[in-house]
Amino acid sequence: MSDLEYLRSLIKAIPDFPQEGIMFRDIFPIFQDPRAIEMLVSHIVNHINETIKEKVDVIVGLDARGFLFGPMVALRLNAAFVPSRKKGKLPGETLSADFKKEYGVDTFEMQVGAIKSGQNVIIMDDLIATGGTAVAAGQLVEKSGGKLLEYIFLIELADLNGRKNLTAPIYSMITF
Ligand code: PRP
Ligand code: ADE
Ligand code: MG
Repeated sequence: MSDLEYLRSLIKAIPDFPQEGIMFRDIFPIFQDPRAIEMLVSHIVNHINETIKEKVDVIVGLDARGFLFGPMVALRLNAAFVPSRKKGKLPGETLSADFKKEYGVDTFEMQVGAIKSGQNVIIMDDLIATGGTAVAAGQLVEKSGGKLLEYIFLIELADLNGRKNLTAPIYSMITF
Protein backbone atom coordinates (compact mmCIF):
# COMPACT_ATOMS: atom_id res chain seq x y z
CA MET A 1 0.00 0.00 0.00
CA SER A 2 1.37 3.45 -0.92
CA ASP A 3 1.61 6.25 1.62
CA LEU A 4 -1.38 8.00 0.05
CA GLU A 5 -3.44 4.79 0.09
CA TYR A 6 -2.57 4.31 3.75
CA LEU A 7 -3.55 7.89 4.64
CA ARG A 8 -6.78 7.53 2.66
CA SER A 9 -7.64 4.31 4.53
CA LEU A 10 -7.45 6.19 7.86
CA ILE A 11 -9.91 8.96 6.89
CA LYS A 12 -13.33 8.12 8.29
CA ALA A 13 -16.60 8.99 6.54
CA ILE A 14 -19.38 10.09 8.90
CA PRO A 15 -22.81 10.62 7.30
CA ASP A 16 -25.00 13.56 8.32
CA PHE A 17 -22.41 15.44 10.39
CA PRO A 18 -22.57 18.30 11.35
CA GLN A 19 -25.78 18.60 9.32
CA GLU A 20 -28.06 16.20 7.45
CA GLY A 21 -26.80 15.56 3.93
CA ILE A 22 -23.11 16.22 4.69
CA MET A 23 -20.64 13.32 4.42
CA PHE A 24 -18.04 14.44 6.95
CA ARG A 25 -14.43 13.32 6.30
CA ASP A 26 -12.71 12.89 9.67
CA ILE A 27 -8.92 13.28 9.53
CA PHE A 28 -8.24 12.82 13.25
CA PRO A 29 -7.43 9.07 12.97
CA ILE A 30 -4.29 10.17 11.05
CA PHE A 31 -3.16 12.10 14.12
CA GLN A 32 -3.60 9.06 16.35
CA ASP A 33 -0.93 7.28 14.25
CA PRO A 34 2.59 8.78 14.37
CA ARG A 35 3.63 6.82 11.24
CA ALA A 36 0.75 8.42 9.34
CA ILE A 37 1.65 11.91 10.62
CA GLU A 38 5.20 11.39 9.35
CA MET A 39 3.87 10.26 5.93
CA LEU A 40 1.56 13.25 5.69
CA VAL A 41 4.21 15.83 6.58
CA SER A 42 6.96 14.22 4.46
CA HIS A 43 4.66 13.94 1.45
CA ILE A 44 3.88 17.66 1.57
CA VAL A 45 7.50 18.69 2.17
CA ASN A 46 8.68 16.49 -0.73
CA HIS A 47 5.97 17.91 -3.00
CA ILE A 48 7.07 21.48 -2.19
CA ASN A 49 10.78 20.75 -2.58
CA GLU A 50 10.22 18.99 -5.92
CA THR A 51 7.76 21.40 -7.54
CA ILE A 52 8.22 24.90 -6.10
CA LYS A 53 11.26 26.76 -7.31
CA GLU A 54 10.97 29.79 -5.03
CA LYS A 55 12.01 29.83 -1.37
CA VAL A 56 8.81 29.44 0.66
CA ASP A 57 8.80 32.19 3.32
CA VAL A 58 5.45 31.57 5.01
CA ILE A 59 3.02 28.70 5.53
CA VAL A 60 -0.47 30.02 6.30
CA GLY A 61 -2.58 27.49 8.21
CA LEU A 62 -6.36 27.80 8.43
CA ASP A 63 -8.17 27.66 11.77
CA ALA A 64 -8.57 25.01 13.03
CA ARG A 65 -7.60 21.84 11.20
CA GLY A 66 -4.94 23.62 9.14
CA PHE A 67 -3.12 24.20 12.45
CA LEU A 68 -2.56 20.46 12.89
CA PHE A 69 0.15 20.03 10.29
CA GLY A 70 0.91 23.50 8.86
CA PRO A 71 3.45 24.24 11.63
CA MET A 72 5.15 20.85 11.14
CA VAL A 73 5.63 21.58 7.43
CA ALA A 74 6.82 25.14 8.17
CA LEU A 75 9.43 23.81 10.59
CA ARG A 76 10.83 21.37 8.02
CA LEU A 77 11.02 24.14 5.39
CA ASN A 78 12.59 26.66 7.76
CA ALA A 79 9.61 28.89 7.00
CA ALA A 80 7.37 31.02 9.21
CA PHE A 81 3.92 29.80 10.26
CA VAL A 82 1.09 32.36 10.18
CA PRO A 83 -2.45 31.51 11.34
CA SER A 84 -5.63 32.63 9.69
CA ARG A 85 -8.01 32.59 12.66
CA LYS A 86 -11.73 32.67 13.14
CA LYS A 87 -12.97 36.14 14.14
CA GLY A 88 -12.16 37.63 17.56
CA LYS A 89 -9.21 35.39 18.52
CA LEU A 90 -6.20 37.45 17.41
CA PRO A 91 -4.93 40.48 19.37
CA GLY A 92 -3.76 43.72 17.77
CA GLU A 93 -4.57 45.09 14.36
CA THR A 94 -6.06 42.51 11.98
CA LEU A 95 -7.18 42.12 8.39
CA SER A 96 -10.45 40.28 7.84
CA ALA A 97 -12.39 38.40 5.16
CA ASP A 98 -15.89 36.90 5.36
CA PHE A 99 -16.72 33.55 3.79
CA LYS A 100 -19.34 30.88 3.23
CA LYS A 101 -18.38 27.20 3.53
CA GLU A 102 -20.11 23.86 2.88
CA TYR A 103 -22.07 24.12 6.15
CA GLY A 104 -22.08 27.72 7.42
CA VAL A 105 -20.64 31.24 7.34
CA ASP A 106 -17.59 32.65 9.13
CA THR A 107 -14.91 35.37 9.18
CA PHE A 108 -11.15 34.90 9.04
CA GLU A 109 -8.62 37.32 10.52
CA MET A 110 -4.85 37.67 10.16
CA GLN A 111 -2.49 39.91 12.12
CA VAL A 112 -1.22 42.94 10.25
CA GLY A 113 2.51 42.51 9.59
CA ALA A 114 2.53 38.73 10.04
CA ILE A 115 3.17 38.41 6.30
CA LYS A 116 5.57 40.98 4.87
CA SER A 117 5.07 42.49 1.43
CA GLY A 118 6.62 40.32 -1.27
CA GLN A 119 6.96 37.15 0.83
CA ASN A 120 6.27 33.80 -0.85
CA VAL A 121 3.29 32.10 0.78
CA ILE A 122 1.62 28.69 0.70
CA ILE A 123 -1.88 28.25 2.18
CA MET A 124 -2.50 24.88 3.82
CA ASP A 125 -5.71 23.29 5.06
CA ASP A 126 -7.06 19.81 5.67
CA LEU A 127 -9.85 19.96 3.11
CA ILE A 128 -11.39 21.94 0.27
CA ALA A 129 -15.15 21.62 -0.15
CA THR A 130 -16.84 24.69 -1.71
CA GLY A 131 -13.57 26.63 -1.55
CA GLY A 132 -15.12 29.49 0.47
CA THR A 133 -12.62 29.10 3.31
CA ALA A 134 -9.64 28.98 0.98
CA VAL A 135 -10.80 32.01 -1.03
CA ALA A 136 -11.02 34.12 2.16
CA ALA A 137 -7.53 33.05 3.23
CA GLY A 138 -6.23 33.98 -0.23
CA GLN A 139 -7.77 37.43 0.17
CA LEU A 140 -5.91 37.92 3.46
CA VAL A 141 -2.61 36.94 1.84
CA GLU A 142 -3.30 39.37 -0.99
CA LYS A 143 -4.21 42.20 1.44
CA SER A 144 -0.92 41.52 3.27
CA GLY A 145 1.06 41.92 0.05
CA GLY A 146 2.21 38.29 0.03
CA LYS A 147 2.71 36.27 -3.16
CA LEU A 148 0.50 33.17 -3.06
CA LEU A 149 2.44 30.32 -4.67
CA GLU A 150 0.01 27.46 -4.05
CA TYR A 151 -2.83 26.01 -2.00
CA ILE A 152 -2.19 22.59 -0.45
CA PHE A 153 -5.01 20.37 0.85
CA LEU A 154 -4.96 16.87 2.27
CA ILE A 155 -8.49 16.26 0.88
CA GLU A 156 -10.42 17.64 -2.08
CA LEU A 157 -14.17 17.01 -2.36
CA ALA A 158 -14.33 16.88 -6.16
CA ASP A 159 -18.13 17.08 -6.57
CA LEU A 160 -18.22 20.56 -5.03
CA ASN A 161 -15.61 21.84 -7.50
CA GLY A 162 -14.23 24.38 -5.01
CA ARG A 163 -11.06 24.66 -7.10
CA LYS A 164 -12.94 26.74 -9.71
CA ASN A 165 -13.07 29.59 -7.17
CA LEU A 166 -9.32 29.69 -6.45
CA THR A 167 -6.88 31.88 -8.34
CA ALA A 168 -3.60 30.17 -7.37
CA PRO A 169 -2.41 26.61 -8.22
CA ILE A 170 -3.90 23.81 -6.10
CA TYR A 171 -2.33 20.59 -4.89
CA SER A 172 -4.59 18.06 -3.18
CA MET A 173 -3.33 14.70 -1.95
CA ILE A 174 -6.56 12.69 -1.74
CA THR A 175 -9.81 13.16 -3.66
CA PHE A 176 -13.26 11.95 -2.64
C1 PRP B 1 -13.72 22.90 7.38
C2 PRP B 1 -12.43 22.39 6.79
C3 PRP B 1 -12.05 23.48 5.85
C4 PRP B 1 -13.39 24.04 5.38
C5 PRP B 1 -13.68 23.64 3.97
O1 PRP B 1 -13.43 23.86 8.37
O2 PRP B 1 -11.44 22.22 7.82
O3 PRP B 1 -11.32 24.51 6.50
O4 PRP B 1 -14.38 23.49 6.27
O5 PRP B 1 -14.96 24.06 3.54
P1 PRP B 1 -15.19 25.01 2.29
O6 PRP B 1 -14.23 24.62 1.22
O7 PRP B 1 -16.62 24.76 1.91
O8 PRP B 1 -14.99 26.42 2.74
P2 PRP B 1 -14.42 24.22 9.58
O9 PRP B 1 -14.38 25.69 9.74
O10 PRP B 1 -15.75 23.60 9.36
O11 PRP B 1 -13.83 23.49 10.83
P3 PRP B 1 -12.43 23.56 11.62
O12 PRP B 1 -12.49 24.78 12.49
O13 PRP B 1 -12.43 22.27 12.38
O14 PRP B 1 -11.30 23.63 10.64
N1 ADE C 1 -15.44 20.92 5.72
C1 ADE C 1 -16.34 21.23 4.77
N2 ADE C 1 -16.95 20.13 4.31
C2 ADE C 1 -16.42 19.08 5.01
C3 ADE C 1 -16.63 17.69 4.99
N3 ADE C 1 -17.52 17.14 4.16
N4 ADE C 1 -15.91 16.92 5.84
C4 ADE C 1 -15.02 17.48 6.68
N5 ADE C 1 -14.77 18.79 6.73
C5 ADE C 1 -15.46 19.58 5.91
MG1 MG D 1 -11.21 24.21 8.63
